[in-house]
Amino acid sequence: ITDLPLKGKKVIVTAGGTKERIDPVRYITNDSSGKTGHAIAEAAWNKGADVVLITASSIPVPDRIQKVAVESAKEMHQAVLEHFETADSLIMSAAVSDYTPKTVAENKMKKTDSLSLEFEKNPDILKDMGSRKRADQCLVGFAAETEHIIEYAQSKLKEKNADMIVANDVGQKDRGFNVDNNEVTFITHTSEPIPIRLKKKTEIADDIVSWIVDFFKNN
Ligand code: C5P
Repeated sequence: ITDLPLKGKKVIVTAGGTKERIDPVRYITNDSSGKTGHAIAEAAWNKGADVVLITASSIPVPDRIQKVAVESAKEMHQAVLEHFETADSLIMSAAVSDYTPKTVAENKMKKTDSLSLEFEKNPDILKDMGSRKRADQCLVGFAAETEHIIEYAQSKLKEKNADMIVANDVGQKDRGFNVDNNEVTFITHTSEPIPIRLKKKTEIADDIVSWIVDFFKNN
């Protein structure tokens, strides 16, 4: 018996930490490994979806999943824009850099006694897609916080016009960035916060995809 509730649905997943270049050999990034996003892509494929994984991570991607490799937030934004209109769901699990260097040095920068860099704000991809979202599209974002996790995630849900925010505490070593486990809370418009106990990121990915399956049943 096959259970493919996402058959015919196109699901976009973003993953990894974006890299913002300073010069040809240097960049600024963050601690995101891409494990959660890649697990979500796999979980969505297992439920029958056509999956596009837009990733800044170097984790290998099986052929059954369409991979779009990106480096910077701007590249990720472009790739998401290309796919969003024809997508049924977007899951923004990437850790998108909030800032990018104002200028990128053309040549490798030489050593100096001190160095200051100027940054400008990157586009907020989730917020932009939230403003374009149709009622039939399911938009999921993440909120990595170290304090007031639920409150911040609830305001993010509204501000970004998402259908769900997966809130996670990145202030603890045994969960979150770069490890295999996480403990999260699903924040939605339709129910009280749903706590998901500490478990494997692959299991959390299944829970997220199951929530999306239910969203399509009800919308
Ligand atoms: O506002 P904050 O960065 O905490 O929101 C996190 C969510 O927004 C994540 O889903 C992340 O992928 C997304 N995001 C984005 N573009 C940015 C920053 C964050 O899409 N520039």
